[in-house]
Order: sequence, then C-alpha cells, then structure tokens
Amino acid sequence: MKFKKILLSLGIGLGLTFATTMASAAEYKIGFSQIGAESEWRTANTKDIKEAAKRHDVNLIFSDAQQKQENQIKAIRTFIAQKVDLIGFVPIVETGWDNILREAKRAKIPVLVMDRDLKVSDPSLFVAKIGTDSYTEGKKAFEWIDSFVNKTQLKPRNGRDKINIVVLEGTVGSSAATGRGNGFNDAFNASANKDKFKILASQTGDFTRQKGQEVMESFLKSNRNDIDILFAHNDDMALGAIQAIEAAGLKPGKDIIIISCDGVKGIFQAMIEGKSNVTIECNPLQGDLFFETAKKILKGESVPKSVFVEEGIFEADVAKEVLPTRKY
Ligand code: AHR
Repeated sequence: MKFKKILLSLGIGLGLTFATTMASAAEYKIGFSQIGAESEWRTANTKDIKEAAKRHDVNLIFSDAQQKQENQIKAIRTFIAQKVDLIGFVPIVETGWDNILREAKRAKIPVLVMDRDLKVSDPSLFVAKIGTDSYTEGKKAFEWIDSFVNKTQLKPRNGRDKINIVVLEGTVGSSAATGRGNGFNDAFNASANKDKFKILASQTGDFTRQKGQEVMESFLKSNRNDIDILFAHNDDMALGAIQAIEAAGLKPGKDIIIISCDGVKGIFQAMIEGKSNVTIECNPLQGDLFFETAKKILKGESVPKSVFVEEGIFEADVAKEVLPTRKY
C-alpha cells in the first residue's frame, strides 16, 4: 500500500496522468504511454485502447505524454518501477529509445509497440510492433494522384506546364511522417508520368489542424495560384488547410485537389461537401490486436515481429454512403 502511494506521488511529481481503468482483480497489469491528443485519429486510438482494455480484462495504466518524448520516457520508467507485466507505447519519434528500453529489458518487462515504428540498435529491445504501414499509405497517396490526373486529364491551373503539389508533413522524426514521405516520393520517382508533376513546397504541420491551417496559409501567400494538389499526411491538417484555402477565396477539392491520410469522420464530411477528394485509411482501432498480442507474449507464445491492421482508400463519391458505417 505504502509502495503504491510512493509511486502515485512519483507519477504526480513527474507531471504524468495515470488512470487505472480496471479493478485490481484483472489478470495482467499493462502500462501504456500514448503520445497525446494531436488529432481526431489519436483521440479515436486512445478511446479504442481504453475500451479494449476493459474487454480483455486488463488492468491498464494509461499515460498521456502531451507530445513530448521525455514524458514518454518518464512514463516508461514509472511503469518499470510499478513492475507492470508489459509495457506498450506509441513512439512519438523513431529514435532515442535505446536507453529506456534497455532498462525495461533489464527488469524483464516485455515491450509491445503500437502504431508507429522505432529504430533501435538491438531489435530484441521490443518484442513486436502492431499498427499501421505508413510507407504503403504514402505510396498509395501518390499512386492515387497519378491515376486521378490520368483519368480526369487534370491540367495545371493558369497554363503552367507542371502540376504543382504541396505537402503538409506530419511530426518531424515520426515514422508516420517519414514513412508517408518516403512512400510518396518513391511512387513519384517510379511513375512514368513523373515529369508532369512538381513538388512545389513541403513543410511540417505537426499532424494538427491548427498548424495545417497556418502552413497552408503561408503556402498560399507565396503561391496562391500555383497550387494544384495538396497531400496532407493526415486528415486533421487537410481540414485546417481547407479553411485556409477557403479564406484565400479558392475552392478546396476543386481548385486544389486534396488527398490526406487517416479516414476520420471529419474528412468524410468534407468529402460529402465537395471540399476534399480522397482519404487513405490509417486505422486507429488497434486495441483488440494490441491486447491479444500482449496476452500471447505474456503466456510465452511467439508472435510476429510486425503485424499491420487493415486499411482501405475512400474517395469522395462513396463518402456519403460510407460515413454512417465509420467507427471513428
Ligand atoms: O501515427 C498515426 C498518425 O498520427 C495519424 O495519421 C495522425 O492523425 C496521428 O496524429
């Protein structure tokens, strides 16, 4: 009891928020460090993790890092002190995890990574990663643009000779941004039509609606009539950009074709209103797979190093029909 109190005050002292969501009779105690609440997608991901913990009868200790890697490291250290059975976390950025994961390994606590990828010097520092395939998402994004331009015979506005693309990138150093960027660029470079296109500008909007809007405003300030296509690494930034495009007196989805990743309800609504063109799904509903995999690990069963959740592509013409079926 005394030990628990000390840990609780340690958590408060570190500025972390912990919430035990299940009775202590639960089978396993799992510590989970989430990035924060930067997007509609992330909110859905957190809700799913908490609900899945209840379904799987797991004692979940949840910590919100408020967009700071240092908070994630502190949370993981606290989980180790609490002697949890397993640690789960979403790495906000790819690098910088070796030391804390070595501490977990020394304490013999298995680590299961969710959603984003990480780079470590020793692959045995985490057991497995479940989540999304950012590289493929980025690749699908350019391939969609390529086929859309072919199908519609889209021409550059104002008689230019190239179709200009601007990119709103996700959080710098995150696998979601790097993977989508690399997948997009590789598909661009592999395209037989690559000479038709030019990447006019590319800048981070940190996966948030507000920064997406601000960066799009600055793109439009210098290139109001020179942007044909926007690729936003997530829907939230696209939704922010839509506001900036309208404020500049242009029609999102028409003057500027918009493609983004995630598939949240907000972008479906924008597609129904004709303000966006397509979303490449990135599925946040990873909770069941996470706890199923965690239990296998805790029972000593072997699991694949990497498991991806299923993801689709939704274009504007199906948005109205699909929106009622969306879970996030
Ligand atoms: O890691 C997944 C990405 O992170 C989602 O695309 C984005 O919305 C979130 O913030």
